[in-house]
Amino acid sequence: MTHEVAYEYTGVLEEAIGAEQGLTQKEIFSFQPEVDAAHQTLMAWRERGDVGFLDLPFTSAKQIEDITAKAREKSRGMEACLVLGIGGSSLGGKALRDALKTPLYNEMGKENRKGYPKLYFAENIDPETFVALLGMLRPDKTLVVVISKSGGTAETMSQFLIAMDWLTKNLGNSTANHVVAITDPKKGTLREIADKEGFETLDIPRNVGGRFSVLTPVGLFPAAVIGIDVKSLLEGAAAMAKRCESADLKTNPAYLNAVIHYAYDAKKGKPLSVLMPYVDSLLSFADWYRQLYAESLGKRFDRDGQEVFRGPTPIRALGTTDQHSQLQLYMEGPFNKVITFIRTKTFRSDVKIPASLSYKTALDYLPGHSLGQLNGFEQMATTHALRKNHRPTLTLSIEKIDAFTLGQLFYFYELQVALQGVLYHVNPFDQPGVELGKKLTYGLMGRKGYEEYAKELDQAFE
Ligand code: PA5
Repeated sequence: MTHEVAYEYTGVLEEAIGAEQGLTQKEIFSFQPEVDAAHQTLMAWRERGDVGFLDLPFTSAKQIEDITAKAREKSRGMEACLVLGIGGSSLGGKALRDALKTPLYNEMGKENRKGYPKLYFAENIDPETFVALLGMLRPDKTLVVVISKSGGTAETMSQFLIAMDWLTKNLGNSTANHVVAITDPKKGTLREIADKEGFETLDIPRNVGGRFSVLTPVGLFPAAVIGIDVKSLLEGAAAMAKRCESADLKTNPAYLNAVIHYAYDAKKGKPLSVLMPYVDSLLSFADWYRQLYAESLGKRFDRDGQEVFRGPTPIRALGTTDQHSQLQLYMEGPFNKVITFIRTKTFRSDVKIPASLSYKTALDYLPGHSLGQLNGFEQMATTHALRKNHRPTLTLSIEKIDAFTLGQLFYFYELQVALQGVLYHVNPFDQPGVELGKKLTYGLMGRKGYEEYAKELDQAFE
């Protein structure tokens, strides 16, 4: 397969948007020494075995077959697969479902789903949604896939205990056949329970953190359950990895994107990064990107322990919908954003706008065009208008949405964010900021060892 994702950055250059808002080629490429050093750091971490996501595209054929075989076996005869997980343990799988099977997948009949089960991601612990979701599903026809790297996340584990109760009440002894656990190979409460209950399990490699784990069983297993070609997905990621092998900004689009965003934040007062695909099926991908960017780059301390409060803010938008919601702000608001479009050159289906009316109206310019054409023209027009307003834009052009393309996109952003984190001199792979909230919640829920946190909250709310 050859359809490469094309990266286009002319929309950030001085020639396109003027000297005040634009960057010069010289400015961009002057970051090469910093990039070389950051690359060395990243490679040293990899060498030490700390950065596993870089190796995932090269997952062996045997491992891929193992994941797909388990997915086939466990989902045989199932009407639905319910994934319990949150953050990095959910967003990648959901992005894959929506991109490759469309966001309407679960609404489709069995024939249109080619016999594969429906695939739900519970994610949030909104009791109303979760109760409604379980009410829609048949326990004897549902495979529950519980995903947690730490094996102890309160949201996921609560849903898991509820789902276990639901399964056991209905299925008794055969409950374990309906559960797959994806977690750390050795550590954590979920691992302990899975071993004790005899669940089928798949491992998340130790050195791959949640938001970088879409190309592990975290994303691959749910994808395989609904017949996504995971081999092709990994081939796409491998193609991007190959393209980004060298640290040279002239050939490595992920590093180039990192530099452009870094330069805009550090030197031009633009800390907001908008990702705006123009198809519904990539909106969940933009959600995945948002988490990756925010959790990896937003840090209080740098790698020397200095307090820096660093981090650009990701925003996800959808064309053309958000042209009628956000675009006014992007066009005329503060000059604090870099906007990346994902342009789809072909659509998997399209429809011509017909001349349905027998009389003349102001709509006569529409018939003869297709919705896809209108979508493409709107994106072109918006890009141009933003340029005229001196707003920096970048474009990722994709030939078509398929597993190979998605593999490229996932790897592209993971690598960009990892390097960008090193440029910011923070650790892109930790998330200490979410720990305090977790501990306070444990305190409130009466977890042993967290009494201090409960007391702290009692005092605060008195
Ligand atoms: O990227 C991350 O590390 C987080 O978003 C985690 O994925 C999220 O908090 C869920 O954690 P876990 O998989 O341990 O349940």
